Amino acid sequence: MSDNVRPESMKRINTPELAEAFINEQVEAIKKQVGDRKVLLALSGGVDSSVVAALLIKAIGKQLTCVHVNHGLLRKGEPEQVIRVFRDQMDANLIYVDAVDRFLDKLAGVSDPEQKRKIIGKEFIDVFAEEAKKLDGIEFLAQGTIYPDILESDGVKAHHNVGGLPEDLDFELVEPVKLLYKDEVRVVGKTLGLPDNMVYRQPFPGPGLGVRCVGAITRDRLESLREADAIVREEIGKLDETPWQYFAVIPDMQSTGIKDGKRYMGWAVVIRAINTVDAVTAESVVLPWDTLRTIRDRVIAEVPGVNRVLWDMSDKPVSTIEWE
Ligand code: XMP
Repeated sequence: MSDNVRPESMKRINTPELAEAFINEQVEAIKKQVGDRKVLLALSGGVDSSVVAALLIKAIGKQLTCVHVNHGLLRKGEPEQVIRVFRDQMDANLIYVDAVDRFLDKLAGVSDPEQKRKIIGKEFIDVFAEEAKKLDGIEFLAQGTIYPDILESDGVKAHHNVGGLPEDLDFELVEPVKLLYKDEVRVVGKTLGLPDNMVYRQPFPGPGLGVRCVGAITRDRLESLREADAIVREEIGKLDETPWQYFAVIPDMQSTGIKDGKRYMGWAVVIRAINTVDAVTAESVVLPWDTLRTIRDRVIAEVPGVNRVLWDMSDKPVSTIEWE
């Protein structure tokens, strides 16, 4: 049987005890595979790569080097959290690469969504490969592949994420969670002590806020999106029942506002909140008026350049969840 097939006898990991057993098993397997050699991991701060990082740190400590590439398209506070959790709390070998200018310069003036995704994907691989080449003696590459990635090689993630490394980086793979479903990865992450907002993170596109800053990305509009998104997530996150996915979008359009008796042009922020089972179809969530009003007031008061707040009440189909 291929080692990419989940054995029927494998129990669904849904308790801390089962997670603990899985962790012990994988720690032994990683130690056996890697020995005293070195491993590299691209650590985005998403659930899958974070859980793989935590497992490897437990198994081989400083033989793991994590590279966190900040492409400027992460959500508010995310790069800081990666540094706090992995460098400060877990004492990992973490290389933080501030590639913000590099990405935003390459993206300047590019409005076609596919082109934007391609640039972000290629630049990511280039930055990661450059970092890898600076390091001596790496023999393994760890990856946060999970079972749905194997099952649905044409699924949402595979379709959206630009992957693969240049061929001259010839590493053996370490993929400790490749037979797990997402909910199991979360239980393992929780048992490994990762913070809830990392373990229960909403799905987030690989190209990050790049797909939610519609049209050509400018630094000021991107910053406004990041602030507005933090407000939208904070306020909707207070509901007793939170939707499956909720975030802000900033379209590439301006409309008229009025301030101190003078008309001016400003951006619009769009609130998106959906429920879904598999992201193939999705239903717009009816948000309470109080929540909408608080978001509107906070976005207008706190986010520079924004003079209008809209609510996207479209279902999928015919609207996709993301705008690009
Ligand atoms: P759409 O916009 O196609 O999105 O309705 C479906 C789901 O996929 C997420 N999404 C991505 N997930 N990498 C990912 O892992 C990506 O590049 C990507 N783009 C979209 C989206 O957030 C939604 O949950």
